[in-house]
Amino acid sequence: MTADVPVTEKSPRGALRFPPGFRWGAATSAYQVEGAVEADGRGPSIWDRFCRVPGAVDNGDTGDEAADHYHRVEEDLELMSALRLNAYRFSLAWPRLLPEGGGRLEPRGLAHYDRLLDGLLERGIHPLVTLYHWDLPQALQDEGGWRVRRTAERFAEYAAVCFEKFGDRVRDWVTVNEPWIVGVLGHQLGLHAPGEKDLAACVRVMHHLLLGHGLAARALRGAGRPDSRAGIAYSLFPHTPLDPHSDADRTASRASDGYVNRWFLDPALGRGYPDDMREHWERATGPLDFVHDGDLALIGTGSDFIGVNYYTRRIVSARPGDGPWPWKVEPGRADVERTDTGWEVVPDDLCRLLLRLHRDYPGTPLLVTENGAVYDDGPDADGRVRDERRTAFLRAHLEAVHRAREAGAPVEGYYHWSLVDNFEWAMGYRPRFGLAHLDRTTQTRTLKDSGHWYARVAATGTVPP
Ligand code: NOJ
Repeated sequence: MTADVPVTEKSPRGALRFPPGFRWGAATSAYQVEGAVEADGRGPSIWDRFCRVPGAVDNGDTGDEAADHYHRVEEDLELMSALRLNAYRFSLAWPRLLPEGGGRLEPRGLAHYDRLLDGLLERGIHPLVTLYHWDLPQALQDEGGWRVRRTAERFAEYAAVCFEKFGDRVRDWVTVNEPWIVGVLGHQLGLHAPGEKDLAACVRVMHHLLLGHGLAARALRGAGRPDSRAGIAYSLFPHTPLDPHSDADRTASRASDGYVNRWFLDPALGRGYPDDMREHWERATGPLDFVHDGDLALIGTGSDFIGVNYYTRRIVSARPGDGPWPWKVEPGRADVERTDTGWEVVPDDLCRLLLRLHRDYPGTPLLVTENGAVYDDGPDADGRVRDERRTAFLRAHLEAVHRAREAGAPVEGYYHWSLVDNFEWAMGYRPRFGLAHLDRTTQTRTLKDSGHWYARVAATGTVPP
């Protein structure tokens, strides 16, 4: 994001208290943890198909088994209790509920999520439910997927089913997870399902995802549950110009911020598409004629909160290099710490991001719907996972959330990605994001040291000195 929001002063080292209602959570998504892809009438999704394309996923990994969460709901609920969570973000698998994308509802899929939701509520854990975390039913892809407007309508129909079946137990809904990633990785670069490489498709897809959000949010308002809330979980990257004193780099950084962040936030928060980025898209792909009259009004009234997925920043320069765009994403700085996937660790930018959202979209509640890191630590000879770096990462990012709150940002909760090591999309199982370690041969979960630390934080609502 722009560098013009000052980071508030770091609090002197002391215990940091969060208010009693603060949501302490962990997050997962269906395809990444459930496995059981052929169980109980589940239909195929685009990720089942994509994983079978040679070379698409590292090591030939697939989500066929994942963390076998589908068969281990009780065990994972116990894990959440051990973590002392009062909140859990997970996604519903659309192809488990509607195997053909629409029409026939699969009762065994419903029963699975009923069990999970009831188990959460029995333990005092608030569910935050994502409707679309990338596992589009293959049947809908065969009809054009998110490239066609009809898929947004199908999505709203699916959402309405979910509101009807689960709305008695779920208040907060994430409609769509990371529309930028779906567009760019899935449709521009071909690195995610469905593996398309077409810039014009990318921008259509992103619009239809936003439209799906707007239609689903309207369905939620019509579902007769006035307390319910809908929002998008965005992949937000704060931006830093390579040379902060260079006008050209600052302009490039602002433009790239339009591509990654504002293109989604502005319309969803009622401001329509930002003009600067609209011009870039039109120059690169032609008129945006898939944006119909009334779409932006619909999209713009559907957000009750902003879901923030934050992992790292983007450093941007004005050098040529990023395809049709007048900016270039630069490698991170050598003197900045990295996770084991090479992402820079920049907790201050989480604070800056939350304050910027508070400034630009005032009054909108904020949820950190994802934040986490890959550290590959495994069990030592005693079976203990000493992942000090994850604990340090967590601490630094929670301190950043606390600073943002102190400065007025209305952050209601923090969901660590992830509950347990899982299927990291095109990177397969190698990157480990979990608070619990997963042994994939036995499916044994072992709480890492970071998990024990987070449990104390969640239990006390306090980050210790
Ligand atoms: C974003 C995605 O929502 C999630 O599915 C993914 O595993 C994490 N970030 C980590 O890359």
